[in-house]
Amino acid sequence: MNAVSLDPLAKLAATLQEASGLAPTAAFDGRIDVAGDDPTLADFVKHQALMRCYQARYVLLPPEAPAEGVLAPMRRHYDEARLASLAALRPRLEVELIAPGAPAGQGDISAYVEHMLAEIREAPESAFTAFLAGADHRDDHYRNFLVQSSPDLLAEASASALGVLGEYGEPQSALFRILIDEFGYGVHGKKHAVLYRATMRSFGLDDAYNGYWPWFDTEALALHNAIHWLFQNPRNFFRQVGFLLYAETAYQRSTLAHHRYLREFHPDADARYFAEHAHIDLHHTRMVIDEAVAPLVERFGAEAGREIIAGAELTKAAFARAGDHLLAVSQAFAAAGSASYGAPASPRERLGRPVTPRSDLAALARSQIIQVGALGVLSDPREFASFPPAAIARIVP
Ligand SMILES: [Fe+2]
Ligand SMILES: [Fe+2]
Repeated sequence: MNAVSLDPLAKLAATLQEASGLAPTAAFDGRIDVAGDDPTLADFVKHQALMRCYQARYVLLPPEAPAEGVLAPMRRHYDEARLASLAALRPRLEVELIAPGAPAGQGDISAYVEHMLAEIREAPESAFTAFLAGADHRDDHYRNFLVQSSPDLLAEASASALGVLGEYGEPQSALFRILIDEFGYGVHGKKHAVLYRATMRSFGLDDAYNGYWPWFDTEALALHNAIHWLFQNPRNFFRQVGFLLYAETAYQRSTLAHHRYLREFHPDADARYFAEHAHIDLHHTRMVIDEAVAPLVERFGAEAGREIIAGAELTKAAFARAGDHLLAVSQAFAAAGSASYGAPASPRERLGRPVTPRSDLAALARSQIIQVGALGVLSDPREFASFPPAAIARIVP
């Protein structure tokens, strides 16, 4: 398949803009950017489009009725023609953006699990929280972390819920038990996505799902899309199990590091999201290994095991990329001489054109400044050239 050309994406952007209407609530704001004459934005807008493909699968409602009522924007958002234009692009976007990072799995699953558990146990806790411990402007760096992690976490486990639908024997019930933990066992205040919202609010951020979509950079979108590619395609079922295997295991460690960090440096922040995971994911790891991986491999043999490994490796690589990238963006911002910290005041209004580190930054007028995620602004946009390639900034209008 050829690379998806930007023309259909520009058309899609117009369709999505129209369906969103003027001043949409976050729930029904389905816009994407237009690459225009900046070819370095291609990956970014393609990932935005793929995110919109996946999000079209979910029920989203605003916290209160919009001025025009709820039905009109809802009908536009889930309009058949809108959904069809998203669905038409999805397979090619997946082939181009996700498939290259999803090689076949190799090896023996029992040895793999053993090695993975030891490796995660012995790994240093978290490079990001270690950086923060010695950094200035911790609040701003942490805010950007929360924003860049929010595309998936504000609807946590909605992706993996799709893998639980169907009929496939006992492992299904084990995965369902994990899923209901993710949904707080039906107690809304304990739902993991709701706990994440509380952390965002305690850092002064808007907690609406999609509330910061214009500030998700390419790598944040890539992680969201890798997870959704796994779970929105039933052919990936064994890889989904591999995702859960790696994610539940890695998460118990990373959330413990974040919990300790928040307790020490932001004692007033709501850290329940991290405390809950540091505890419950110990159980989820065991459940995935004993009640999903083992019986599935017993039933379907080594080829199922290799697919599980493929899913775990995809997840490991996606987490590592997103984590390394986030840290590198923070470090680049901390090193920029023209930086001043602060999250965008109105995250979805009056959006300036996005730029990448490879855009023609020198061509931006001297008076233009750019906002980098929730970190802050660079008054000299040329400094953005030394940021990681998947970073995104917007011209402040
Ligand atoms: Fe969770
Ligand atoms: Fe979990």
